[in-house]
Amino acid sequence: MHGAVVPDAPSSAVHPQQWPEVAYPQVLTASGEAHVRALLARMSVEQKVGQIIQADIGSVTPRDVREYHLGSVLNGGNSGPGGNDLAPARDWLALADAFYAASMENTPAIPVMWGTDAVHGHSNIVGATLFPHNVGLGAARDPDLIERIGRITAIEIRVTGQEWTFAPTVTVPQDYRWGRAYEGYSSDPALVASYVGSMIRGLQGPPSIAPILAGPHVAASTKHFLADGATVDGKDQGDATVSELELRLIHGAPYIPAMENGVATVMTSFSSWQGVKIAGHKGLITDILKDRMNFGGFVVTDWNAHGQVAGCSNASCPVAANAGIDMFMAPDSWRALYASTLAQVKDGTIPMARLDDAVLRVLRVKQRLGLFDAGKPSARAYSGRYELLGAPEHRAVAREAVRKSLVLLKNTGVLPLKPRAHILVAGDGADDIARQSGGWTLSWQGTGLDNSDFPGATSLWHGIEQNVTAAGGSAELAPDGAYKQRPDAAIVVFGETPYAEFQGDIPSLQLRPELRRPFATMRKLKAAGIPVVAVMITGRPLFVNEALNEADAFVTAWLPGSEGGGVADLLFARKDGTMAFDFQGRLPTAWPATAKHGGPTLFPFGYGLTYADGPQPWTALSQDSQVADDGSGGGVFFDKGQPATSWSLTVSEADGGDPLRVTTVPATGLSGRATVQAADHSVQEGARQFVIAAGPDGAAIEINAQNAVDLSRETNGDVLLLATLRLDAPPSAPVSMSVRCDGVDCGRALRLPELTALTPGQWRVLGVPLKCFAATGADMTRITAPFRVSTGGSLNISLSRVALGSGAEAGVVAKCALD
Ligand code: BGC
Ligand code: BGC
Repeated sequence: MHGAVVPDAPSSAVHPQQWPEVAYPQVLTASGEAHVRALLARMSVEQKVGQIIQADIGSVTPRDVREYHLGSVLNGGNSGPGGNDLAPARDWLALADAFYAASMENTPAIPVMWGTDAVHGHSNIVGATLFPHNVGLGAARDPDLIERIGRITAIEIRVTGQEWTFAPTVTVPQDYRWGRAYEGYSSDPALVASYVGSMIRGLQGPPSIAPILAGPHVAASTKHFLADGATVDGKDQGDATVSELELRLIHGAPYIPAMENGVATVMTSFSSWQGVKIAGHKGLITDILKDRMNFGGFVVTDWNAHGQVAGCSNASCPVAANAGIDMFMAPDSWRALYASTLAQVKDGTIPMARLDDAVLRVLRVKQRLGLFDAGKPSARAYSGRYELLGAPEHRAVAREAVRKSLVLLKNTGVLPLKPRAHILVAGDGADDIARQSGGWTLSWQGTGLDNSDFPGATSLWHGIEQNVTAAGGSAELAPDGAYKQRPDAAIVVFGETPYAEFQGDIPSLQLRPELRRPFATMRKLKAAGIPVVAVMITGRPLFVNEALNEADAFVTAWLPGSEGGGVADLLFARKDGTMAFDFQGRLPTAWPATAKHGGPTLFPFGYGLTYADGPQPWTALSQDSQVADDGSGGGVFFDKGQPATSWSLTVSEADGGDPLRVTTVPATGLSGRATVQAADHSVQEGARQFVIAAGPDGAAIEINAQNAVDLSRETNGDVLLLATLRLDAPPSAPVSMSVRCDGVDCGRALRLPELTALTPGQWRVLGVPLKCFAATGADMTRITAPFRVSTGGSLNISLSRVALGSGAEAGVVAKCALD
């Protein structure tokens, strides 16, 4: 392939001269610059290409790093040493040494750089201090605190030998239905911008020609450039359609202090602006960020994001290189990408001058870190000082951050509580550290964890218990509110469960129905005359008027992290009745009056009560969400033998015909050939059993809806369609699976030998990667039937649930074999 066939990276849409010119500080000495240029002159083209590629530790070995001269490695949210996400700190350091040693065996020796998502503390490491997620820090309105958090985070990263964090996230989310909104400080560009310099100085140290690694510091990365928080409907990896003016004034604002403070790297966004993926947008990356704003570090792409650029795949993307990115994050695709990029440089598709510029930028950051002289990771300052992970003085700052982030929305006088009393702690979120820590905690989505994974951390419950017992009172934990001893007051902790990318995207601003159960607990307690304090764990403001009405006081705790004791600090008075602290948290974005994005505001940006304000009267709020969806958020199509709201279960002849719509059981269809009856699974009648005899026209079991759903983001995110089923008798002919788009067949059918091979009589979760359907040609943006099983033979199966989920939840994963 030659250069002429590669489309030009788009750049014409922007007007760089309208963007601010920023002075990027001088961070290299003349001899440092001379050093990296001399190195470049000694590098082969293979070495240069390797230098701009980053692989994930789950898919690369130290030997690969040496052989391919890779410039960088990262650990994705679910990657850990030896495949263990929860590996002890010393394993991380040992692996850092191994990668470093491998990189130094080459000539010239160029040390590898390891990037990690230390986004709320060194949050991939068991035992590290976990700070509140950024939305809570936005509430604190305290730039000095942010700088201290950055510094502590950097020190804890250094303990395990990494030198680069993919933080801070400087997104300015405009739609909190986006599941990553909590990663941003605020919807207000000025508030975000006021934090960026502090965080960068905390992480990297103030801009200077002194090596970053000489101090307690690491390289930072502002992400995700640009306008990740502007996508339509808050869709993750979606399209921002805003004007260039909004792009500059709202989403560009944080990049001014980022440049002024010499941020070492910038990560591009998965999203697009006006239909063009940022990773391939030359106008934004080269013309604005580099040429106009004078960015002197390097630009790294996001996780295989280059594969989404028009004309690219994960294995090849000259457009991104030519648009100005300096490092490809190619977690598992690095090997093929290395080969294609090398070929593209050799044939001129990627100009050598562009490659040299990218390599120089990477080398400059390494020079600025002091990496060439730092020695192996374990020999550097702070390395291996495991006592610094979650050190008491670090946790004290995290606890201060929790206190400062709490926002008091209602207090009719019940707060502060007297600690010499009997306190009930209820609600499903009270004693759950993973829940209060949110996504990007030990695992990618922050799921699959329990309190034992958080040594040294304090749940909200334990913080309350400690506070109360120290004052001579007593506390009781009863998640459902069924107390043993009548309490003087109750604290009900409720809210969201952890999520990260796209799994937290929601159609409207409300909690899932099962997460609203604590509202009934509040009501019961109130009815019994017990004062109730509601504490909400959440990544975003949601429509929770019912809880606001029920409770006598309401505190938003956001995602406080490992130091749950900070909540009790503000709920309880001291023994003498005075308060050690007052609330200072103010809403970092407006709180909605309904579940509708863009609907009326209940509490404005900046709202937050204090003890100094005294008790405030309350007028009951409407409990009408003003939206049609029930908050269940999609993703479950069939559960406990029943289709979810707006979905139907049908049995039909494989090539159409009159379908049997199963509303009640038993049901008979296909001229008597098919029967459907109730079967038990987990609960009585929690499944449907299908007995279908072979017939000339075959048969299909389908779950479908009138309106199409867009599953493209889930398809990108390695999500599977999971069917919980039992084979009741071996099928007499092959079985296949497909989806339907806009009511008609789309894509080819997948063969499903995995179903036929199941042991009859046993319940299994069969997973089919959504990617398989996309590969058959189905338009995943228009799905009306996510589940369709068909056969020309007999079929005897029972089906309990059909939902989206991860590979970890599947007992058997189907291959993408085409029918
Ligand atoms: C996320 C980034 C993250 C990267 C590495 C991506 O999917 O969007 O924020 O830094 O993965 O884990
Ligand atoms: C990784 C994350 C990454 C995500 C991208 C996950 O498997 O662990 O780090 O951000 O994929 O979709």
